[in-house]
Amino acid sequence: MSDVVITVRPNGPYLVQGKVRVVDADGREFPTDPSRPIALCRCAHSKQRPFCDGSHKTCGFQADDRAPAGGG
Ligand code: FES
Repeated sequence: MSDVVITVRPNGPYLVQGKVRVVDADGREFPTDPSRPIALCRCAHSKQRPFCDGSHKTCGFQADDRAPAGGG
């Protein structure tokens, strides 16, 4: 069982819960608050990428990906 859970939010970000580091292509770490979940943008409209800034609510992003029944 993983210590990290990534929740695919309906019409929203990937919500990452657990101990993780977010790094750029050069391996430099983005500052995060380890006591809070991390929301990663998947609509591509955030001005704070790779993090969600709530822009998905106003850009018309729609995605409601669901795991197959009986998975995990
Ligand atoms: S998913 Fe929230 S700003 Fe992109």
